[in-house]
Amino acid sequence: MYTLITGASSGIGYELAKVCAQHGHNLILTARSEEALHHLAHEIRNQNKVHVEVIPQDLGIVGSAKQLYQHINEQGWEVQILINNAGFGDHGFFTHSSLEKQTHMIQLNITSLTELTHFFLSSMIQRRNGKILNVASTAAFQPGPFMSVYYATKAYVLNFSEALSEELQGSGVSVTTLCPGPTLSGFQKAANFSNLAILKMMKQPTSKEVAEYGYDSMMKESVVAIHGFKNQMLVQIARFIPRFVTRKIVKALQKRR
Ligand SMILES: NC(=O)c1ccc[n+]([C@@H]2O[C@H](COP(=O)([O-])OP(=O)(O)OC[C@H]3O[C@@H](n4cnc5c(N)ncnc54)[C@H](OP(=O)(O)O)[C@@H]3O)[C@@H](O)[C@H]2O)c1
Repeated sequence: MYTLITGASSGIGYELAKVCAQHGHNLILTARSEEALHHLAHEIRNQNKVHVEVIPQDLGIVGSAKQLYQHINEQGWEVQILINNAGFGDHGFFTHSSLEKQTHMIQLNITSLTELTHFFLSSMIQRRNGKILNVASTAAFQPGPFMSVYYATKAYVLNFSEALSEELQGSGVSVTTLCPGPTLSGFQKAANFSNLAILKMMKQPTSKEVAEYGYDSMMKESVVAIHGFKNQMLVQIARFIPRFVTRKIVKALQKRR
């Protein structure tokens, strides 16, 4: 039995791989950076008695999730836990952004996540045994001016995963949505997202802290797991603020200084 982790080459996914290995999970690691994945696999094999397989794949390409699924099936590897972690954002005015980059983001953050969930879910249900951890964000709870597509993709991940967890009650398969707030990883550089007020507001946790919390939440079968007390408070407070105010606050926080 294997745990499949997407986006395992850096940040939260990299740390999730280490945490899972420490708990004895055999791993299938995927992302685009082949060398980084092999390096991690080597490190994990040296420190833990687990099998680690590496499949380099760009999940931002149409049809790539199916390719990954078929490859895993051909090898006869059974996926008991699916961690849909790969994702990226893009900061700036939507009108000035590359449409190609935005559609690539939707393909990765939404379509591949949905397809992988669909492909692996049927055998989990047949075995009445499986777990899915989908990584959303605190961005999922409100609109995000200057990162409009990214925030919307994460709202999709949260709503899709939460609904699915309810459909699957009693099936033996749990779905957990992990919602990190700003976290130290490669994310901010990839999103062209630095020197913003939102990042100065609070001390950012490490990817390791978020990964450990995500792993524990998945094993406890929590439905929505918001990392950190401050993030939990902010999400609750946002529920009582009118949306026209919320979007203005997020706009001010995400404006480049
Ligand atoms: N860090 C934050 O502040 C934060 C906050 C909330 C939510 N999140 C979410 O947490 C998740 C992990 O992000 P992170 O913070 O760990 O950032 P990260 O360090 O940039 O890691 C992103 C991972 O996704 C992979 N990835 C990116 N594009 C890909 C593609 N086209 N195909 C396959 N894999 C791809 C990257 O690997 P390759 O480049 O090798 O492909 C990398 O392994 C994301 O879903 C992100 O939205 C992050």
